[in-house]
Amino acid sequence: MPGLTDDVVASFAGSEDARLREVLTSLVRHLHAFAAEVRLTQAEWQTGIDVLTATGSITDERRQEFILWSDTLGLSMLVDAIGHPLPEGATESTVLGPFFVPGSPLREYGADIREQAGGTPAWVHGRVLDGGTGEPVPGAELDVWQNGDNRLYAVQDPDAPEDHLRGRFRIRADGSFAFVGVRPVPYTIPDDGPVGHMLAATGRHPWRPAHIHMIVRADGYQTLVTHIFDQASDYLDSDAVFAVKPSLLRTFEERDADDLRAPAGVEGPWCSVECTIRLARGEGRDVVDSGRTA
Ligand code: BEZ
Ligand code: FE
Repeated sequence: MPGLTDDVVASFAGSEDARLREVLTSLVRHLHAFAAEVRLTQAEWQTGIDVLTATGSITDERRQEFILWSDTLGLSMLVDAIGHPLPEGATESTVLGPFFVPGSPLREYGADIREQAGGTPAWVHGRVLDGGTGEPVPGAELDVWQNGDNRLYAVQDPDAPEDHLRGRFRIRADGSFAFVGVRPVPYTIPDDGPVGHMLAATGRHPWRPAHIHMIVRADGYQTLVTHIFDQASDYLDSDAVFAVKPSLLRTFEERDADDLRAPAGVEGPWCSVECTIRLARGEGRDVVDSGRTA
């Protein structure tokens, strides 16, 4: 329709917010170009409206289906890449995900974050270093959360204690940290809503490869939101939210029950994973809770 796109763009001319004008102008141009390119039918337009309506209906303070769309369409990873270009040598970032809950308990070096049984114990250890100089960053804070062998994060599991498999650690003078968790397992993102319908309709699966989430904060450094992935996990090449980066793969080394290096309180076979983190200098930032999905 000649002139329509330009007319809509022109309608923003009076906006005093230059950035708002820029974003809306580009959005309208791309939206119109998209509809024209696929020759969007009235019925398809209605389906789109219905999907957005269903997304709104299922979203509440515990479930954020809009972010799940962003994750599964790769937008979350794109926005992260735009916002956090990292200097060479710094550990790469990835998505926050919906299961981060602020206020994890502060725990001691080497603490066991398992508050109920199950899974293969994992000794997770490493150092937090300055990505430029390689020097330790003492006083940095490592915030970790992970799922258990039932695939669930504590926040999803009514039977799990609130602080199961999560904790915050103060980095020691030599940059070291360590804790006992469990070997994470692959799990499905919430797929009982509109995003799940999209995955099924397009022949995609809802699985994420096994990983442990980390946020690392330190004065004078960019806040790092990342995961470490088990490099032996399934789904590394088909993560439902496109969040795998090869530099984040780590080896979970398997250890026998009689291995004398077993951390205190660990019985039976266990595993050990080294994960040194390298921070980029810069400003910290608040990490927003993206909306829990129960
Ligand atoms: C997660 O890793 O916890 C996650 C990330 C994106 C969507 C769903 C779950
Ligand atoms: Fe996760």
